[in-house]
Amino acid sequence: MQNFEFHNPTRILFGQGQIAALAKQVPAGAKVLMLYGGGSIKSNGVYDEVKAALSGHTVLEFGGIEPNPHYETLMQAVELVRREQVGFLLAVGGGSVIDGTKFIAAAALYQGEAWDILSKGGKVIQSALPFGSVLTLPATGSEMNSASVITRHATQEKRGFMSRHVYPVFSVLDPAKTLTLPARQVGNGVVDAFVHVMEQYLTYPAQAPVQDRYAEGLLLTLIEEGPQALSRPDDLAVRANVMWSATMALNGLIGVGVPQDWSTHMIGHELTALYGLDHAQTLAVVLPGIMQVKRDAKRAKLLQYAERVWGLRDGNEDSRIDAAIAATRNFFEQMAVPTRLSAYGLDASAIDAVVNALEAAGSVHLGEHHDIDGNATRAALTLSL
Ligand code: NZQ
Ligand code: ZN
Repeated sequence: MQNFEFHNPTRILFGQGQIAALAKQVPAGAKVLMLYGGGSIKSNGVYDEVKAALSGHTVLEFGGIEPNPHYETLMQAVELVRREQVGFLLAVGGGSVIDGTKFIAAAALYQGEAWDILSKGGKVIQSALPFGSVLTLPATGSEMNSASVITRHATQEKRGFMSRHVYPVFSVLDPAKTLTLPARQVGNGVVDAFVHVMEQYLTYPAQAPVQDRYAEGLLLTLIEEGPQALSRPDDLAVRANVMWSATMALNGLIGVGVPQDWSTHMIGHELTALYGLDHAQTLAVVLPGIMQVKRDAKRAKLLQYAERVWGLRDGNEDSRIDAAIAATRNFFEQMAVPTRLSAYGLDASAIDAVVNALEAAGSVHLGEHHDIDGNATRAALTLSL
C-alpha cells in the first residue's frame, strides 16, 4: 500500500425527511441559486420540498441542466451567478446536475477562459463558491467527491476535472426520492457504481486487504440489491442500500493507497460524446472487453474477484477467469443495461471513431500500467460488438 492522504470534507445527511435539514445547512443570509435538470424534481415533489425547506432564504433558480451536462448551458448559469452575486449553490438532481454545479462553482470565480478548467484540469482552480446537493439518482458518487465531467456540445468533447475546492459542503441523500427513477436509470446507477469499484479494485495486488474487502463488500451488495431494485421497485430498504453503496463506491475511501485503472471510463466517455449512449451503458460495453484484453496483467486480481465475489472455485485458472468475465457481463444484462454495441445500433465503424477520438485527446496510455493504447481499446471494443 502506498502512502496517502485522505480527507473528505462532505457532510452526509442520509435518510427519509432529510431535505428539511436544508433550512439549517444552507447558510442564512446567502443568496442561493438552486440548480436542477429537465424537470423530474417538479413532478416528484422534490422541488416543492426543497422550496419549503428554504422558505426563509433568498432563492434564485436555474433549470435545464441536461444529462452529460453541457458547457454551453452551464456558462449561462455562470453569467447568472456573477450578475446576481450568488453566494451559495444548491444542486438538486443526479450526477449531471451536481457535476454541472461543481463546474459553475469554480468557473464563476475563475479569471481566465472557463474551458481551461477542463482542458488544463482542476489544478487551475484556486477557489470555488460553496455548494450543497440533494441527490435524486444514486450512481456517480459526485455527491461526496471532488470530480466533475462536462461535455462541450459544439465539439463533442467530454472532459473531467478534479479539485479539492469542489467537494460539496453537504449532501442530502433521501432514498425515498429515488423511488420515481425510471428502470433505465436504476440499472444505470447500479452498473456505474459497480464499475467505479472495479476501476479501483481490478488492477494488481497491492497488499491492501482493507481496500480489497471494502471493494468486494460493495460489489457483493450491488449484486444482491441491484436486481431487487428492479424487481421490487417500492422497497425502500433496497433503495437505501443501493444509494449508500453508490456513494461509498466513489468517495475516495476504497481507492486510497492502491493502483487504479479508469480506462473503462475514459473509453466510455468518448462513446457518450460521439454516440450519446448513457454513461453506464458505455461502461457495460467496455469493461468486459478490458477484463479479457488485460487478463494476464490483471490475472491475480481476476482470480481473487472470481473467488470472493462470484464464488468460483472449481476448474483451472483460465476457466475461472472466463466465468468471472461472463458473470460480470450477465450482471449488467440482468440490470437491463445491454453490453453489446449492436444493442445500441453501433457497428465496427464506431470503434474506429472512438479510437481516433482517444488518440486526438492523447488518451493512449490508459490503465494502471499505462499500456492501454488504441490497439488495446480496439481489441476490447471488438469483443463487445
Ligand atoms: O434531468 P431530470 O429531469 O432531473 O431527469 C434526470 C435525467 O434525465 C433523471 N432523474 C434523476 N433523478 C430522478 C430522475 N428521474 C426520475 N426520478 C428521479 N429521482 O435521470 C436522468 C439522468 O440523470 P443524470 O444526472 O444525467 O444521471 P447520472 O447521475 O447517472 O449522471 C451521469 C453524469 O455523471 C458523470 C457522467 O459522465 C454523466 O455526465 N459522472 C460523474 C462522476 C463524478 N462526478 O465523479 C463519475 C462518473 O463516472 C460519471 O462519469
Ligand atoms: Zn462512472
